[in-house]
Amino acid sequence: MMEIPIINKSIRKEIEKCEFRQGYHIMPPSSWMNDPNGFIYYKGEYHLFYQYNPFEPEWGSIHWGHYKSKNLFDWVELPIAIAPDETYDRDGCFSGSALVVGDKLQLVYTGNIFSGEDKSNDLIQCQCLASSTDGIVFNKYEENPVIPTMEGIKHFRDPWIWKKNDLFYMALGTQSIDNLQGKAVLYKSTDLVNWESVGDISESNGHLGFMWECPSVFELGNKEVMIFSPLGMEKDGEKYHNLYQSGYFVGNIDYNTGEMCHGEFIELDRGFDFYAPQTLLDPNGRRIMIAWMGMWESEIPTKKNHWAGNMTLPREICIDPKGRIKSKPVKELQRLRYNLIRYQDIEVNGRSYIEGIEGKCIELIIDFDVESSQAEKFGVVLRASDDGSEETVVSYNRKNNQLVLDRNNAGLGPKGIRKLSFPNQLDKLNLHIFLDNSSIEVFINEGDYVMSARIYPKNDSVGVYFFGDGAINTDIKKWDLKKVMDK
Ligand code: FRU
Repeated sequence: MMEIPIINKSIRKEIEKCEFRQGYHIMPPSSWMNDPNGFIYYKGEYHLFYQYNPFEPEWGSIHWGHYKSKNLFDWVELPIAIAPDETYDRDGCFSGSALVVGDKLQLVYTGNIFSGEDKSNDLIQCQCLASSTDGIVFNKYEENPVIPTMEGIKHFRDPWIWKKNDLFYMALGTQSIDNLQGKAVLYKSTDLVNWESVGDISESNGHLGFMWECPSVFELGNKEVMIFSPLGMEKDGEKYHNLYQSGYFVGNIDYNTGEMCHGEFIELDRGFDFYAPQTLLDPNGRRIMIAWMGMWESEIPTKKNHWAGNMTLPREICIDPKGRIKSKPVKELQRLRYNLIRYQDIEVNGRSYIEGIEGKCIELIIDFDVESSQAEKFGVVLRASDDGSEETVVSYNRKNNQLVLDRNNAGLGPKGIRKLSFPNQLDKLNLHIFLDNSSIEVFINEGDYVMSARIYPKNDSVGVYFFGDGAINTDIKKWDLKKVMDK
């Protein structure tokens, strides 16, 4: 078994004193975290693996870090599950997924080798297995890889496995050799070891990027969904403003040809930091999604304190009658709440501080009564400093029916705004906001949209105030949230 590398005392101190360590979001014990991997429910517990470089707060020597939880909020750190210690994975155990097969927890991942200096393109990638019967110690399959490198294909990774009608299926992200467009392909197997190509699931139409990462396929409602993360999409109005995107198609897959008949690509999160999401099906039939709350090439101020990256909150997803995915924080998170402060039908006009509403590790549910109000522009300012120099703003403008998340003055780190226009005029605006020490997640109108962002305000920037350029009636609930990480 791989031991967790010993972080020396001075590094441990740097991490501990970092005011941006999260209170209740999954983050690496030290060093670097990116994609969630192998998110699964096994023998009564939720397991989350993740892309982990245990040596430095930069992407690099990628292992699979491992947490488990009985309740989706108390996470226990486990030893590293797999390490890049074989010739076929020596430059990284890249992203993959998990499946419970009989008594076993089966992992499938991409073994990566760099064939040259260009780490984005000089890649030799193959698909590998590792399994465990206790959910802690994993053994790699002796005859790995089970799908070897494809001649001429540089990008071929992130296997997602599932079982349907007695066959195992695997979706993989790749790039077509003919036109260098992103695509997802389907394989099948009777035994997880011998895999046969079925065909292409879907391919970029020229607007959906040059490479598709982390595809995953599952049933939701009576539809099939493919989530994936395309590289290289162009901005389109308010959409696709991050370096890379994560979104989904809804449709149906023909398992004979592999082809998915689907609708348009829709982003899963309209904020700044959301990538490579994975989902699991839990025993209650819930589809729960978690993503890396980060973005490639984004500035990460915590690197100087020897850690980088965290996950979003686990979100339950479902599909609405229009075929759009709605995401809500899982209900277990309510157990983190204490100190409820509640106001009903309180009038906000101009700048309004409301007694007891402040903090940096808090949950807020705000219902603005838009219909009965004269205000044109209103919203909430969070993580505000006393001197007014720091603030993170969520505002709504009735004129253009647009919501804006503004982190231009949030503190350290990357800046910018993200906009979201609603298709219909709003009577009510519901904002369900989670603030942690260095993040904000805004669930909008009962999960119709979500905006996630890392923010790095000063420790004492804990102010919250409401504003409106006219009177607006508002219901507000606020809880403090328990710190459960770094225990
Ligand atoms: C997505 C990704 C995957 C790859 C992994 C490497 O963020 O680039 O395609 O497997 O990260 O860490």
